[in-house]
Amino acid sequence: MSEPGLVPDGVETDRPSVARLYDFFLGGHHNFAADRELGRRLLEAEPNARFIVAENRKFLGRAVRFLIESGVRQFIDLGSGIPTQENVHEIAQRGAPDAHVVYVDNDPVAVAHSRQILTGNPLATVINADLRDPQSVLTNPRVAGLIDFGRPVGLLMVTVLHFVPDSDDPAGIVAGFRAALADGSYLVISHATDEAAPGAAAQVRDLYKSTSAAAHTRTHAEITRFFGGFELVDPGLVYLPLWRPDGPVPEHPEEAWFYAGVGHKAGPAS
Ligand SMILES: C[S@@+](CC[C@H](N)C(=O)[O-])C[C@H]1O[C@@H](n2cnc3c(N)ncnc32)[C@H](O)[C@@H]1O
Repeated sequence: MSEPGLVPDGVETDRPSVARLYDFFLGGHHNFAADRELGRRLLEAEPNARFIVAENRKFLGRAVRFLIESGVRQFIDLGSGIPTQENVHEIAQRGAPDAHVVYVDNDPVAVAHSRQILTGNPLATVINADLRDPQSVLTNPRVAGLIDFGRPVGLLMVTVLHFVPDSDDPAGIVAGFRAALADGSYLVISHATDEAAPGAAAQVRDLYKSTSAAAHTRTHAEITRFFGGFELVDPGLVYLPLWRPDGPVPEHPEEAWFYAGVGHKAGPAS
């Protein structure tokens, strides 16, 4: 397989990156030999890895469509990843051509490829920022240029919070973003757990230690706490395939062992 064509300066090609590993699992071409080598070891540890990421992308699509149907017209996608099929701006702008989308990632390959595909799209942009510093995202001029914080926002944290260790206070980070969001905003989270497949999850955690960001699985209760200040919409926090399925549900949804949920920041009761 060829190497990615777009390699920004300073990219560490010999250390697997979580963005490029995800691209590998999705069948993309923006990954290097070190990513593919670790990807193959991860597939031995968890043969369902490709099923999990495919279900994650389906969940992301259903959640964005749900938000569009709920009237949301602006999205901040934290940890947006390397562009693939059915990117957030494509889904959102198909449903509402006036939808604004800001992608945020701290991986240079993800940012470079996102910038490339967004050329000519004035309603979508990408910034290179670390979500662990909410103010750096919220005060970024490109964000301010596209997002009106007086109106509802769809805040996406899809398959990214498990790269934030407890020592970085993930709940405090989510709360930092929540404080900036207007009532009527939504929070979308998917997050790895070890409740369904503890053995595989332990091996995966171990293998991710050699990447750009170690992985931290969490329990249903721990992930639910990230929705503090939001009301979980039906069906609550569930395994990926079970969140508002729009087709047949796999026989063993727990084999896609990420929890998924959408929270609504309701206004004060009137
Ligand atoms: C597994 S990918 C998920 C991509 C996309 N959200 C999805 O679910 O399809 C996780 C992404 O989060 C990014 N990421 C990890 N930690 C981050 C951080 N602290 N700040 C910004 N992005 C981060 C990685 O670079 C990677 O692109």
